[in-house]
Amino acid sequence: MTQIDVDLVKGAAAPSPYVPRMARILDATQMTETERFFRLQMEDGPLEYEPGQFVSVTVFGLGEAPISICSSPTQGEVFELTVRSVGLVTNALKQFKKGDRLGVRGPFGNHFDYDVMKGQDIIFVAGGLGLAPTRSLIRYVLDKRKDYGKVTILVGAREPKWLLFRDEVQEWAKRGDADVRVTVDRADASWKGNVGVITKLFGKIEIDPAKTWAAIVGPPVMFKFTVLEALAEGIPEHRIICSLERNMKCGVGKCGHCQIRGVYVCRDGPVFTYEQVKRLREGI
Ligand SMILES: Cc1cc2nc3c(=O)[nH]c(=O)nc-3n(C[C@H](O)[C@H](O)[C@H](O)COP(=O)(O)OP(=O)(O)OC[C@H]3O[C@@H](n4cnc5c(N)ncnc54)[C@H](O)[C@@H]3O)c2cc1C
Ligand code: FES
Repeated sequence: MTQIDVDLVKGAAAPSPYVPRMARILDATQMTETERFFRLQMEDGPLEYEPGQFVSVTVFGLGEAPISICSSPTQGEVFELTVRSVGLVTNALKQFKKGDRLGVRGPFGNHFDYDVMKGQDIIFVAGGLGLAPTRSLIRYVLDKRKDYGKVTILVGAREPKWLLFRDEVQEWAKRGDADVRVTVDRADASWKGNVGVITKLFGKIEIDPAKTWAAIVGPPVMFKFTVLEALAEGIPEHRIICSLERNMKCGVGKCGHCQIRGVYVCRDGPVFTYEQVKRLREGI
């Protein structure tokens, strides 16, 4: 008998990272035409996770998809996901409602290093669905507000109808201890706020580059121009952080699907500094 056999007989083997656990949907709401919000609870005990980690969600009989946890561990035993329907699994998830069950593997990956940011200023820049992973850290920081310096939250969307967590973002603004600004690329008749790309908001805020971290998550074009803006403000590359998305399968650094130049995004990421991202791109 191998040690694994012995452990299995004793019932002592660690649960396999390849076998989904069951989660029950406590709440499911359609946020936009394509994005659906889920509040879930694991059936066999709490999901222990950190801001920035992701889970692999299984729709049995169809497949699985990696999805960022958009809640913060400070919220207790439940966890939350925002899913954009783009294909097989994510479109199927549109039909899931309160009381239904899903398979969940994980949490996987590294996380935002909130300890290293303590006492420092943080500027969050979230474009579109990028608000989902960013929200996990935003909520963590707002729940531990006195541990951090100035907090600025910039949120962008293509149009008002695509803004995620609209009411919650307004609540953050009302707290009075964070500078919250929202912009849309194109306004509609109802919109009274900022219009223009998210980088334009940099002109409206004060940044002390000596003690500021920037968490930038959004589509590639937004990420590119926002990083340029952050660098122009003097924020160093090692204090610009992001969350990368790659096609993934196992989630545990075994299959190689997510690999870039020997780095496994599922295990070594998805959170990287811009300094690391540049090295991955340039191979240095
Ligand atoms: C770490 C990580 C975190 C993510 N967080 C979220 C999230 O919070 N919310 C969310 O809606 N989506 C998130 N995604 C993207 C999500 O995993 C994909 O949209 C999903 O896997 C598509 O699966 P599908 O079966 O619905 O689509 P498919 O039918 O497989 O494909 C539809 C399209 O999506 C692309 N795609 C397939 N798999 C992936 C993948 N793993 N990553 C990126 N693109 C893919 C395909 O190239 C194709 O263009 C995340 C991805 C990663 C890697
Ligand atoms: S998804 Fe398998 S190695 Fe990363």
